[in-house]
Amino acid sequence: MADLRVTLCGVPLKNPVIPASGTFGFGREFDELYDISCLGGVATKGLTLKPRPGNSVPRIAESRGVILNAVGLQNPGVEAFIAHDLAWLRAKTRVIANVAGSTLEDYGEICLRLDGLVDFVELNISCPNVKSGGMALGIRPEHIREVTALAKASLKKTPLIVKLSPNVESIAVNAKAAEEGGADCISLVNTFTGMVIDIERRMPLLANRTGGVSGAGIKPIAVRMVYEASHAVSIPVIGMGGITCAEDAVEFLMAGATAVQVGTQNFTDPLACPRIIGGLNEWCDRHGVAQISSLTGACK
Ligand SMILES: Cc1cc2nc3c(=O)[nH]c(=O)nc-3n(C[C@H](O)[C@H](O)[C@H](O)COP(=O)(O)O)c2cc1C
Repeated sequence: MADLRVTLCGVPLKNPVIPASGTFGFGREFDELYDISCLGGVATKGLTLKPRPGNSVPRIAESRGVILNAVGLQNPGVEAFIAHDLAWLRAKTRVIANVAGSTLEDYGEICLRLDGLVDFVELNISCPNVKSGGMALGIRPEHIREVTALAKASLKKTPLIVKLSPNVESIAVNAKAAEEGGADCISLVNTFTGMVIDIERRMPLLANRTGGVSGAGIKPIAVRMVYEASHAVSIPVIGMGGITCAEDAVEFLMAGATAVQVGTQNFTDPLACPRIIGGLNEWCDRHGVAQISSLTGACK
């Protein structure tokens, strides 16, 4: 049996496999299917200061090898999460609280509320589906530096992960901006902005017109971005985008990731994460890899 443990910003994880934000709720439904304490951690649905109903339907569309979503950060709000889900989830595994704001100040306030209560805060400055905040703060390096520094100032105890948008000119420049702003770790990629047209109705399929593209089809682009970002910074990187199996996860680790997140595949196969953890064990054994952490950045 290989040693699957990894350390992220000084925090030990059982293994590098984490369900991605927005594809796993707060873990309760999945825990009915398997004991989620087997996971390296859970990234929560994006939390905002106040509850949000999300966008109008239809807000999910399928296309070949990918899906598009325009959920629009539907969530019960940070206080409801703290009151109803946090203690339960934290007793199971590491908690990565994914957070989003409409204004710069929102980000500071929500970080202050979560500091010391969760294992990591993951700053979502890359949501393409909301009108204010969201991706607007995650495109230009100077904005990334500013929002990161503001969040970091509110976090005295909890490490800060900044989740980067792939809808940018240079992922290396933006990764560096997050590091300069004080991020302890970066994660990427969030979804790519896309559109599907219903040709019978001659209208966009999604009520929001555009949505975020995720799933197996985006993997080679995501791997390239993780490779470029990890070579631009010296903080750890969490890689994601289209992971469906253990071999995909290995690819992200070799590209430079310390841990990986699995998103859309949780919808297709709710047992994807435990299957990938088992597959990583087998892959390491077959390849004589004693410690999975030795694969990080192993791509020559
Ligand atoms: C339905 C849905 C909702 C999502 N919600 C969030 C969110 O709230 N916050 C966030 O940072 N990312 C969100 N994401 C993006 C995922 O966490 C992930 O970055 C992206 O889907 C790429 O990974 P994948 O190809 O494995 O799905 C969402 C993705 C999907 C499909």
